[in-house]
Formats: sequence, structure tokens, C-alpha cells
Amino acid sequence: MKDILQELEDRRHEARLGGGQRRIDAQHGRGKLTARERIELLLDDDSFEEFDMFVAHRCTDFGMDEQRPYGDGVITGWGTINGRMVYVFSQDFTVFGGSLSETHAQKICKIMDMAVQNGAPVIGLNDSGGARIQEGVASLAGYAEVFQRNIMASGVVPQISVIMGPCAGGAVYSPAMTDFIFMVKDTSYMFVTGPDVVKTVTNEVVSAEELGGASTHTRKSSVADAAFENDVEALAEVRRLIDLLPLNNRDKAPIRPFFDDPGRIEPSLDTLIPSNANTPYDMKELIEKVADEGSFYEIQAEFAKNIITGFIRLEGRTIGVVANQPMVLAGCLDIDSARKAGRFVRFCDAFEIPILTFVDVPGFLPGTGQEHGGVIKHGAKLLYAYGEATVPKVTVITRKAYGGAYVVMASKHLRGDFNYAWPTAEIAVMGAKGATEIIHRADLGDPEKIAQHTASYEERFANPFVTAERGFIDEVIQPRSTRKRVCRAFASLRNKKLSNPWKKHDNIPL
Ligand code: HXC
Repeated sequence: MKDILQELEDRRHEARLGGGQRRIDAQHGRGKLTARERIELLLDDDSFEEFDMFVAHRCTDFGMDEQRPYGDGVITGWGTINGRMVYVFSQDFTVFGGSLSETHAQKICKIMDMAVQNGAPVIGLNDSGGARIQEGVASLAGYAEVFQRNIMASGVVPQISVIMGPCAGGAVYSPAMTDFIFMVKDTSYMFVTGPDVVKTVTNEVVSAEELGGASTHTRKSSVADAAFENDVEALAEVRRLIDLLPLNNRDKAPIRPFFDDPGRIEPSLDTLIPSNANTPYDMKELIEKVADEGSFYEIQAEFAKNIITGFIRLEGRTIGVVANQPMVLAGCLDIDSARKAGRFVRFCDAFEIPILTFVDVPGFLPGTGQEHGGVIKHGAKLLYAYGEATVPKVTVITRKAYGGAYVVMASKHLRGDFNYAWPTAEIAVMGAKGATEIIHRADLGDPEKIAQHTASYEERFANPFVTAERGFIDEVIQPRSTRKRVCRAFASLRNKKLSNPWKKHDNIPL
């Protein structure tokens, strides 16, 4: 028996060495952790249970039968994050460059199937040279099996991808279909075709970093939700994010102890809005002052900064926040911000996370760039997302809510549950100047008359009371009591039940 147990230990030791010490050193030399070190940092101490440690590939071409390392380039299993179950796969770059073979894919598929069956998130740590070249179509089929599972798991369990090395070619489409993508600065990149192919086809000379590095994907393409300095930071942030999310679409997000009084009054909010309606202010200040202290977790902070998306806690419970940011493009909605917020709202709705919306929006950004880029369809995404969402929705208009953007931003008309306005709110079809120039066009040559018309338009609409008269605003609230009002609103909605008519699936504008 002793020998048998020793053999098991020897085999385990061999498996843990992956592609060998030389390749492990090379991985460390690049500033990257190994697949196993990453899992250790991601999960609670000693919680990892591995599957398929001894799986080996079955390829016999190109001399592959001479090297059949245990694990086949991916470590899979389950463990816990703050005591809550997650499934994880971590690609091992030291084994055939983490490339995906038929058996490598089968290992990933096994834990994805279990995650859906048992209702727990899937976290993929990607570090791979892509399809295992020696296996040809068997490897492509493996990817396809993973993709199909990404699709089936979408909206059922949260899926998070961390890109911690190469992720190229069709391989990018698995992370692309997950809910959140994190990247590590300088050591990770994602692209469909690499710099060499780009040069051959389009003559553009571009580095891998510029084409698909963390900065590109968090600032320009919006493919990634956040970028972190190194593996350690990225994994710590995944832990933080998981702690905010439910384990599946029938579960509730965890309730954490809170020490911040839900009735806290914040007098400084009474002076947040500048006296000049065109002066910007930082909407993040409002979010942070309303949230349980220190709970704000921003998503896509570097992209479309004219809208803020992220999670906060109120009374220890997770709430999704969407807020116009007057400091960028005056808080206008445009293609990028509508896409960013639309996807976020849909994530929240899929996983029963209530949504808090702060509104200060002068309208949609005008211009040929926007119209030719399809702002009609992209703007509709956010409108659609809010309108179909059945989770509790609480909205606070702080200042401007003009035109279509007023409707889009979780208005009463899109089944907002609580629609509050600050006394500084201005709800109208458009700003006073633009409105006057249209309805009093005949007086355009007379500045005095135009000034009078503008003033009377402002008097009529630069307040929340016309809207409140109609009941489209439930209550005009004091800025200082926003946290209290919002906490009470969400507390009253905890048993909300609302469902949409049966359909096979919707047809959101894409
Ligand atoms: C098999 C691979 C491999 C692959 C790397 N390796 N990629 N083995 N299939 N796709 C092996 C290398 O042979 C090497 O083995 C080890 O991994 C490390 O690779 P290096 O090249 O030495 O490392 P590095 O210099 O860091 O370069 C990493 C790399 C490069 C940029 C990823 O290896 C590379 O370009 N690989 C090919 C990438 C690619 O074209 N993949 C297919 C993409 S298309 P040894 O034994 O020397 O350590 C695709 C389609 C998916 O993925 C479609 C889905 C539908």
C-alpha cells in the first residue's frame, strides 16, 4: 500500500510540474505566475479540488505521442471564494504554450457543465497560444464545444475571463461571450489576427500591445472591463467582483455585514449641483456618498466615461449603478455609453441585481459620426435593456433629463419603480436655448425677446414639478437625504415580482 500511495504522490508531483522547471522559470521571468499559483491566489486557502489531473492528449501526429504531460495544459476544478463555490480553469503556458487540444477542451467543458448544473460561476484564467496546431480540426472542435457552453451558461451563471497571456485567433471568442473580461497590463493581449497578418493584409505596422493590449481593450475597443498591474492584483479583483455577485440566476447576491447607517444624511449633497447649469460636477461623488462606505466597484472605468457603471452595496446588498457623468461630454448619451450601460443593465437584470440610476443627461450626442455609426440602434440598446428589466429600478434625476435621453434613463415610463428628482432637476424636451430658437424662430433677430422667451421656458421647465404634477416623478427629494430614500426604496422592493410575456427570446437591436 505504501508503494501505491507513493506512486500516486509521484504522479501528482509530476503533474504539478507542468511543462517542467525551465518553462516555469521562463514564465516567472516574464512577470507571470504559473497556472497553479494563480489558482492558489484566486481561491480560499486549501479550497481547490482538482479534476482530471492525469488527463493527457491523444494526438499521435508530429511526434506528439512522445510527450504526453499530465493535465494537458489546463488545470481545472472548483474551490471557494469567501466560502462561496466557483469553478475555475487555468491554462498552463508551460505545457505546449497552454494551447487547446481536444482533451484540454474536454476538461474545460466538464467543469462548465458542472458549473451550470450546480449553479456556480465559471472563472477562466486564459494564457494560451490558441488552437493546438498539431491537432488540427480536433482542436477547433474543442473550441467550438467551449463556445457552445459559454452561450448556454450565459445568463445562468456568471462567467468571468482573466486574460493573463496570449489570447489570439478564434480563441478570443470564448472570453468575448463571458460577462466580464479582465486583462493584465503588459503581459496579456487579445486579437483575432496578430500583427504579422495585419501587416500582410493591410500593410499596417502595429505592435501586439498596440493592437490588442490591455490599454487598447479597456480604452478603445471596450472588449475588456478592467486592466490590472499584475497577476496578483487581477486575481484579487476577481475575488472582489465575485463577492458582489450571485452564484447563479436563481440565487441572490450575498448580503455582507454593513456598518454604514442607511439613514445617513449627507448635507454636502445639497451643494453638489453648481449654480450654473452648464458647470460640470463629479457624479462619482454622489455614488460614493450614497453607497455603503467604500463599496463602489466600477466596471469599464476607462471606456465611455460619460456614463458610469458599477456595483455598490446598500445595507450590505449588491446594487448595480448607472449614472451619467457631467464631467465628460456633459454626460451626453452616445454610441459607446449606450452600449456600455446597455450591457451592464442586462447583466444586472439577468442576475437579479437591482438597478440604481442617477440622471444628468442633456440628450444624445449630435453629429455625423454618431448618426453614421448607428446611434439609433445603439441608443436603442440601452432603452431596450431598461425597458425589459424586471429587477427593482430606482432612479434619481439630479439635474438635466432632456428629450429621448430622459425616457431612456430608467424613466417611470420604462417601469421605473421609484423615480425621484432633486429640486434642481430640469425635465424637458430640450435645453431652454435650443427650444426657444425653434418655437420662437420669428424672434431670432431680436435678442431681447429671445432672452425673455428663454427665461420663461426656463421658469416653466427648469424644475421637476411639471413632471411631478403628472406623477412621472414620484417625489421631489432633498439631495442630502438621497441615501436614506434610495435605501428605503430598495428595501420596499425586495419582494418585487414582475415578469415579461412569454417569448422564445427577445430581439434586442444589435
Ligand atoms: C502548439 C504551441 C502553440 C500552439 C505555442 N506552442 N503555441 N504548441 N500549438 N498553438 C508551444 C511552442 O511550440 C513552445 O513549445 C511553447 O508553446 C511556447 O511557445 P513560444 O513560441 O516559445 O513562446 P513565446 O515566444 O512566448 O510565443 C508565444 C506565442 C507563440 C505568441 C503564443 O507561441 C505563437 O505565436 N504561437 C502560435 C499562435 C497561433 O497562431 N495559434 C493559433 C491561433 S488560431 P516548447 O516545446 O518550445 O516550449 C486559433 C484558432 C482558434 O487559435 C479557432 C477557434 C474556433
